Amino acid sequence: MSHRPPATITRRDFIYRVSRYGGAAAMTAMLGLDLMAKEIPKKPLLTGRARAGKNRVVILGAGLAGMCAAHELGKLGYECTILEPRQRAGGRCWTIRRGDRETEVGGAEQVCRFDRGSFMNPGPTRIPGHHEITLDYCKEFNVPLQVFTNVNESAYLHRDGFPLMRWRDAKADYRGYTGELLAKATNKGALDRPFTAEDRDKLIAYLRDEGGLNTDLHYAGGATSSSGPGGEAVRRSFKQAPGAGDQPPIVTSPVDLEMLIKSGFGGMFSNYYDIDQSPTMLTPVGGIDQIAKAFESRVRRRIRFGAEVREIRKTADGRVMIAYTDARGARLEANADFCICTIPPVVLEKIPADFSKPFAEGIAAIGSFPVGKIGLQFKRRFWEQDDRIFGGISRTAQPITQIIYPFDNYHGKTGVLIGYYNFGPDAAVFGAWPPAERERMALEQGAKIHPQYKEEFDNSFSVDWQRIRHNRSGWAGWSGDSRERYYKALNEPDGPIWLCGEGMSYIGGWMAGAFVSAHKVCQEIHARATAA
Ligand code: ALA
Repeated sequence: MSHRPPATITRRDFIYRVSRYGGAAAMTAMLGLDLMAKEIPKKPLLTGRARAGKNRVVILGAGLAGMCAAHELGKLGYECTILEPRQRAGGRCWTIRRGDRETEVGGAEQVCRFDRGSFMNPGPTRIPGHHEITLDYCKEFNVPLQVFTNVNESAYLHRDGFPLMRWRDAKADYRGYTGELLAKATNKGALDRPFTAEDRDKLIAYLRDEGGLNTDLHYAGGATSSSGPGGEAVRRSFKQAPGAGDQPPIVTSPVDLEMLIKSGFGGMFSNYYDIDQSPTMLTPVGGIDQIAKAFESRVRRRIRFGAEVREIRKTADGRVMIAYTDARGARLEANADFCICTIPPVVLEKIPADFSKPFAEGIAAIGSFPVGKIGLQFKRRFWEQDDRIFGGISRTAQPITQIIYPFDNYHGKTGVLIGYYNFGPDAAVFGAWPPAERERMALEQGAKIHPQYKEEFDNSFSVDWQRIRHNRSGWAGWSGDSRERYYKALNEPDGPIWLCGEGMSYIGGWMAGAFVSAHKVCQEIHARATAA
């Protein structure tokens, strides 16, 4: 029988043939034929062009919100001018490295002595995997990302008077004991209605899995061997890790239920089930300021550094005039059709401005949220070498609240960990101390978790956001009541002036909050500027 080629070539045949000449050609062919998923282009934020005579925008602050607004409006031809009081852009999106210096309000000066290659992010440091807007900018600007290990089961939970526990052991015991209670209650018929017998059996099966319960629904620490016929998984830490020959695994025993409940450890890890804190979280390689630098490189010629805003005035013709001083103290003016003000409310409330009464009242009502962090450099990475903790967070009931281990450079020689990251009253107390005292307290409290602190400490750098000029707060300090009363009004423009930043969003204290707010303001300004 003679072989006859098919009269028509199918798309599949075509790709098969192309693929013989190389994968890239096959892929191009598939894309051409719509057989492979293409990246769907995002709808642009703004369309059209800026309108002559209505295209000048003055932006107060070269943080993420301000630079994002300048970047987006700039694409349409708006003439943006950013007034930035510092000699650097980025605001709280800041990374501290060797040689960086900061003088806090009150006069305390620190110079960073971390080893080259080490750094701390005193403000934002982690990006939830669902913060699309932040991740999209990282993608657009080619900012390389790595995993930020927020949750590490090997990290510790600490409270004075209770045994130090690894997260995995505390979680195994909580799951085990609560699973046992619920499974036994269910078995006794406590949940007969609305459950059918089949539902009840399924719930018990789930609780057995969840809690690592025995067949008699008892929690005895979960499986003790990972080599049993059922391939049971061990949940608690090993007392003796499985080895070869005569070294079987020996698993640690559960702690006492009453002790566990009294420890309150459950409240220390439950925060990491929150959507904003659960895996996977990400962070830029080499420091959070890589995001700020990516924006800065796109809007740099728009930024006037060293420009400190002194007055915010509405002009008679509906425009805006900003009086500011430059780095030499000379008084200058910036005139524009619109103003985007990203100055933190606690700083803004002290600047003379023509705000309407409710607007000024709202700004004063927001207040500030105290936040502080300390970076501690150690001579060796004992948390990795001795404790086998690679990234993640240990939690404690002490005022330092947590120890955040470095998320990069594993097995490096030295390392910088975050020795405290506290909010609210604890942050206010730590921040009021001079840096040397913050360091002393961080070392004293941290040594209860890692006694190696005493031997291995090298140097520190701490940031109290209440004392950082031009910020004076970790993030906007909305209370339920002030948000209820003023949030909506402050999200409306006051004449030609829009407030902008994380505080003007429902994603407060996150970079995503700055971006969504910038997007909203850009859309509103463009709509007003181009309205008939
Ligand atoms: N975004 C802040 C944090 O992750 C609240 O700690």
